[in-house]
Amino acid sequence: MILRNRIEVMHGVNLDQLGRRDPAIYGSMTLLDLQDQIAGYAHELGLATSFFQTNAEGEFVEHLHRLGEMADGVILNPGAWTHYSWAIRDALEIAAVPAVEVHLSDVMAREEWRRQSVVRDLCVATVAGRGAEGYRDALARLAEELRDA
Ligand code: DQA
Repeated sequence: MILRNRIEVMHGVNLDQLGRRDPAIYGSMTLLDLQDQIAGYAHELGLATSFFQTNAEGEFVEHLHRLGEMADGVILNPGAWTHYSWAIRDALEIAAVPAVEVHLSDVMAREEWRRQSVVRDLCVATVAGRGAEGYRDALARLAEELRDA
């Protein structure tokens, strides 16, 4: 049984536009559809999820500052911030909870600038290119991490 089971799922810039963004890359789900799916996966694993999305970098940072009080683990898809936001990296380090980085698309197979992630080495795993399923992988990885803790 996992006693620490609260997972915060954080989406960054432009992820509120899912459904409008290129479906060949991001699929046709809206963010609400995706969040419903993630909550279902979490339920199967005995995890409880809450969701946060913003297009403002400072809000993303401040949410990470509050994370320690409200979550046992975090799944984050910071969108384009992944590739350059040292502020988000620093805030994730301060949060000090187990983190998994997720990308819907296969960032390593796209433009060169998407291959860099400033948060990767702070995360226990990175999942990319598996669409919504990637969040199931991330939840399973966090469940393992919290079980061992
Ligand atoms: C993304 C990949 C990023 O490169 C991009 O800027 C996004 C979404 C993904 O989920 O595939 O906004 O994080």
